[in-house]
Amino acid sequence: MDVLEGKNISPLPFELLLDREEISRAVLDLGKRITDDYDQKELVIVGVLKGCIIFIADLIRDIKLPIELEFVSASSYREGATQQEKVETGGTKELNISGKHVLLVEGVVDTGKTISTLMKELTKQNPASLEIVTLLDKPGSHRTKLNIKYKGFTIGNNFVIGYGLDNTQKYRNLPFIGKVVDK
Ligand code: IMP
Ligand code: MG
Repeated sequence: MDVLEGKNISPLPFELLLDREEISRAVLDLGKRITDDYDQKELVIVGVLKGCIIFIADLIRDIKLPIELEFVSASSYREGATQQEKVETGGTKELNISGKHVLLVEGVVDTGKTISTLMKELTKQNPASLEIVTLLDKPGSHRTKLNIKYKGFTIGNNFVIGYGLDNTQKYRNLPFIGKVVDK
């Protein structure tokens, strides 16, 4: 695939998983559902950085409501002798979501640890409602029980890149989603 146009980076081996048109159609469907579901409600869209960026930019333009837009950050790391995975969040305390309807927007849900940590933190701030939106879901990888109301695609366990999603901070700018393959 000629997407990186032979520039000075050695591309990761990947295959096309979802092209721009498929993604656009799924995002438009989600936008329409959300527009219907939140009519006359005060809606705050909260993106999870950085993987959500392209998805959220497209999604909010398909939501025909006067929304507010906020962002939080989350990163996972391994801690201590047990190497237990921890999720560090940022920006959650600065949100003003009490009594408002909130949609938490992710690019991809894998183990579910990131989204469930954020859901717990946001629940404490007494939103009127709180639901998850993800472009991609990997149900085969979940390690925690999740109720995902809005999802674009269910995919397998392979690592994916593009449309905001990275591999060691690169490939977020690919306009489609690729599946990393062993070559
Ligand atoms: P979690 O396992 O659901 O908590 O996801 C951990 C983090 O890894 C999240 O920020 C996801 O966006 C990211 N992540 C999970 N799977 C992929 C993938 O296939 N590609 C890129 N990022 C991923
Ligand atoms: Mg990442």
